[in-house]
Amino acid sequence: MLRIRNLSKSFGGVRAVDNVSFDVPLGAIVALIGPNGAGKTSTFNLISGLLPPDSGSVTLFDKPLTGKSPDEICRAGVARTFQISQLFETLSIRENIQTAALFGRSTRDDVQAAARRSDELVEAFDLGSHANALPKDLTFAQRRNVEIARALVMDPQILLLDEVLAGLTASEIEEAIAIVERVKSPTVGILLVEHQMRAVMRLADSVVVMMNGGVLMQGSPEEVRKHPKVLSAYLGEEIDASGSHIATRSEEALSLNSTADGGGRSVSAAAEPVLSIRNLSAGYGPLTALHGIDIDVGDNELVALIGSNGMGKSTTLKAISGLLVPLAGKVHFEGRDVTHLPAHSIVRLGLGQVPEGRQLFQYMSVEDNLMLGAAFVAQAWGARRERLDEIFALFPRLAERRSQRAGSLSGGEQQMVAIGRALMARPRLLMLDEPTIGLAPIVVAETFEAISRIKAAGVSVLLVEQNVGWALRVADRVYVMESGKIVLAEKAENLWANREFLQSFGLG
Ligand SMILES: Nc1ncnc2c1ncn2[C@@H]1O[C@H](COP(=O)(O)OP(=O)(O)OP(=O)(O)O)[C@@H](O)[C@H]1O
Ligand SMILES: [Mg+2]
Repeated sequence: MLRIRNLSKSFGGVRAVDNVSFDVPLGAIVALIGPNGAGKTSTFNLISGLLPPDSGSVTLFDKPLTGKSPDEICRAGVARTFQISQLFETLSIRENIQTAALFGRSTRDDVQAAARRSDELVEAFDLGSHANALPKDLTFAQRRNVEIARALVMDPQILLLDEVLAGLTASEIEEAIAIVERVKSPTVGILLVEHQMRAVMRLADSVVVMMNGGVLMQGSPEEVRKHPKVLSAYLGEEIDASGSHIATRSEEALSLNSTADGGGRSVSAAAEPVLSIRNLSAGYGPLTALHGIDIDVGDNELVALIGSNGMGKSTTLKAISGLLVPLAGKVHFEGRDVTHLPAHSIVRLGLGQVPEGRQLFQYMSVEDNLMLGAAFVAQAWGARRERLDEIFALFPRLAERRSQRAGSLSGGEQQMVAIGRALMARPRLLMLDEPTIGLAPIVVAETFEAISRIKAAGVSVLLVEQNVGWALRVADRVYVMESGKIVLAEKAENLWANREFLQSFGLG
């Protein structure tokens, strides 16, 4: 078993990991949960040798891992994934996996065995058509599959998975749960960092809750989800044994909010849309990802764009904001043709975006990253101090970390900066690409409440979201995408009665 004893690590004044002890037995799945910045990924970094601990020890079958290098720890049988993917950007997907295989337990230094085993994993993760591609050409979800394949190819005895389910739809989570269940065996122990409670409740034999660097409690999933401190500081609301949320405070707040604005006004996309896209096609090299789609976002309307991973949602946002040049079709923003304007001009017109995958300036501080959001938009710059205060009120964690380098923030903290940066520009239309990826459940609820408030203040919103339950609660209208086409456009309230729709998104 993997034994962690009294591990501690500080960064300057921050005790990121504070006297942490727990075990990961073979044959068991241990979930590690807790608020953003609690110290979960830092604990992974200490176990995998990426960082030396200030004190404490990690042993595998009573042999010390502390003090060994990351590659020695891999060879000893501990493999991990990275929350913010750390692929070798100049190697192909197949080479990424093969390289890892050479540091594994059973295939080490045997190039042919490594190649064979890598090919099996390329197939198992459906990466065949991308095997010779570079990581930069993959979607967020595909990159993560490479991360998992790269860990599994090492044939580990202890597998550390850092938020591998973030950004998946409910049905994709079910598939991923099945993969983890298949990996679980009497000879493999799994340590799973996860904010997806559905998976934690289903998979975990035992749950360790971290808070402020320390272990708050350890218990069964059942014990943990009822613990008052876990509810108040992390879950924010009660969940049932399947990991679904039971009626919530924030839902009440949201439904108040939607009746407050009269309900009717918002679904008038027909009048004069703020954003209108017609027959839009876009792609990457030889691949066409979008096939002539039409979308309208009305004045003060919140529109959600949903669908499985790889269906073209992010491509749609990029083609609207000028990050990707469309192949055909038109984008009109407030009546003006912006189809071939460069991205920075489109931002200046009032179209803000939270991009997929955070895209922060890693070596700049939190505050400077946020300020940059306002720097190119004249009317936003004047109000930057007030706006910054609003963002710190929404994400108090960022106020504490305002001088920290963005690249050293936790995954969830980085996501907060990405949302905050788009809000700094005070856009007319805000496009959000999976804004709540990696956020703790309570922060997810707070973020959706904030998005509803932003809409109530007169901003139009186009939201790409995998959490369809939340999307339906906050949206006026919903578009469903499948293979680069819009297959359904409907008022959100009508979708609650559409059984087939609900079932296909795991809400049945
Ligand atoms: N190199 C560093 N310098 C300064 N602070 C750091 C550094 N690395 C991590 N931290 C801080 O340590 C705390 C713990 O971060 P960690 O990444 O372990 O959190 P986490 O529990 O994985 O959170 P999340 O759920 O958001 O991924 C965070 O507040 C983070 O800002
Ligand atoms: Mg983390």
